[in-house]
Amino acid sequence: MVKEMLQIDLAKCTKCGSCARACTAYVIEMQDPGPVEVHPGNCIECGHCVAVCPVNAIVHEHMDASGFPEMEEPGITFKQFNQLARNRRSIRRFKSELLSKEHAEQILESVRYIPTAENAQELEYLFITDPERVGLIRNEMLKGFKMAFSLVKHFYWIVKSQTSESYARRSRLTGDIAMKKWTDREKTHEDPFFHNAPALLIVHAPKKKVKGITSFAVNDAGIAGYHVLIACETLGIGTCWSGYHTKFANMYGSVRKASLVPKGHMVIASILMGYPAIKYKRDVYRKPLHSRIVGPGDQ
Ligand SMILES: Cc1cc2nc3c(=O)[nH]c(=O)nc-3n(C[C@H](O)[C@H](O)[C@H](O)COP(=O)(O)O)c2cc1C
Repeated sequence: MVKEMLQIDLAKCTKCGSCARACTAYVIEMQDPGPVEVHPGNCIECGHCVAVCPVNAIVHEHMDASGFPEMEEPGITFKQFNQLARNRRSIRRFKSELLSKEHAEQILESVRYIPTAENAQELEYLFITDPERVGLIRNEMLKGFKMAFSLVKHFYWIVKSQTSESYARRSRLTGDIAMKKWTDREKTHEDPFFHNAPALLIVHAPKKKVKGITSFAVNDAGIAGYHVLIACETLGIGTCWSGYHTKFANMYGSVRKASLVPKGHMVIASILMGYPAIKYKRDVYRKPLHSRIVGPGDQ
């Protein structure tokens, strides 16, 4: 028997049925006296019932009522939103300035509100704002990179057969140049792996959950990642997604450990951050979309 979680004030309730209609988990049913919590064990705690009630008649015991402030118009037009997305670029030149604690907190507070499949909210966030720790992670990653890169060279034909000739060739050439730049870093101060970013945000979750057959954690982390990229854009923070870090943290225990990711967890997204030392003057260019709108009557 699951304990009821909703306190429904029937004196306030107008019996409009909005809560029952908004409930995706069929927890609420409209009956004679008003809304009734018929399947409390099914609740995913999305809060739709509380948020939709026009007379504030519902309190959810698992959710702090102060977490439901009245909605405010964001005041952003589509044009502004689109411009924000089109202005954003991956930043690979950073100032040495540390990422401020206030900015780190603002980013975490913002990503808290992303949607997740079944409202699972099981992603965890590790925000490394100490450049020394970021450097340590990069150095561990580099050991993995050297190993992986020598395998690419040794087993080039396998990489080629598993991908394409152009991908294999590009990987080999990029790897060669990156290693050369790293070797010359004393002179050039180049960091082809982490771009000298002072901060790294890591999104992770227990491996069992990520790999579970019903899990959408990878999709959730993609949403989280892009949300962070756009939030950072509004704060003047440069970002660069680090696929390298995600891959190597999951391949090598030493990278995971240096990244402070708990054992048994998988990294699902990694984002380098800092204040940009480069400014782009033109919008992002992309190929035309491969897309189709199918309307009424279309086949
Ligand atoms: C999942 C993912 C992984 C990426 N991994 C890396 C990476 O390891 N290193 C890097 O410099 N850029 C990485 N990028 C950045 C892409 O190269 C970049 O987004 C793309 O070239 C488009 O450029 P833009 O972001 O400036 O528009 C990654 C981007 C995504 C979405």
